[in-house]
Amino acid sequence: MTGAARPPVDQERGQTCQSARATVPGHVAIIMDGNGRWAKQRGLPRLEGHRVGVERIRNILETLTQRGVRYVTLYAFSTENWYRPPEEVEGILEILHQALREQVQSLHESNVRVVHVGKVDRLDPRLQEQVASAQRLTCDNTGITLNVAFDYGGREEILEAVRRIIRDGVPEEAVDERLFRTYLFTHDSPDPDLIIRTGGELRISNFLLWQSAYSEYYHTPTLWPDLGSDEVERVLEEFTRRQRRFGRVDPEG
Ligand code: IPE
Ligand code: IPE
Ligand code: MG
Repeated sequence: MTGAARPPVDQERGQTCQSARATVPGHVAIIMDGNGRWAKQRGLPRLEGHRVGVERIRNILETLTQRGVRYVTLYAFSTENWYRPPEEVEGILEILHQALREQVQSLHESNVRVVHVGKVDRLDPRLQEQVASAQRLTCDNTGITLNVAFDYGGREEILEAVRRIIRDGVPEEAVDERLFRTYLFTHDSPDPDLIIRTGGELRISNFLLWQSAYSEYYHTPTLWPDLGSDEVERVLEEFTRRQRRFGRVDPEG
């Protein structure tokens, strides 16, 4: 084998990019969709769906942690969600504020590292400070990393990376995948192994466009507030049956 023919090692993930039978996904990212429909089914206001949706997070996080997942990214609010009616946007921001106030201390006690991924400048100063303080408090924690994707959009993330690379005067020849990923909002986390979308839609809705290049997908019609640990266990089980090839040929086949 010549030097050039050796499989490249993914330096960031510390693994050789060869075909592999998947085991526990190191990083699970979730598109938490279906809150509005969940509320509508019950004749409740959409915001009630968002409120109950946030309550579900803790239980799902515990299940993932128990199964050995190390990174969890939750898609909570997209760059496009600002175009919803103002009452809904304001209500979601208020729910985020409350969730941070009520949950951060207990997440900290559970050794969770909380990281915001997305833009901060459009959030009001009170929320910006809350987000910064949650990150400061938990930054040295060694348990799971919880990325909260809020005012997150994959296209905006890529554009922002390009702007910062230009601003830093990075020479053209230095721009490779390894450098580029260090400019992403998610620079602290490996790429997601598994992306789960609740709510039945079969689309990515501007989520982790760069990072999901080789993620496994799982879609379920279950609405986010109805997602239970049993279904999460089944998803993790199904993941172990996936054959990840990363473009190579299956060595067993
Ligand atoms: C996902 O639930 C939460 C956010 C996008 C903020 P939705 O609010 O999109 O719920 P559906 O899709 O309308 O049911
Ligand atoms: C994706 O759900 C965004 C979040 C879950 C935060 P949307 O409800 O916004 O996605 P679309 O509009 O159905 O694509
Ligand atoms: Mg939706």
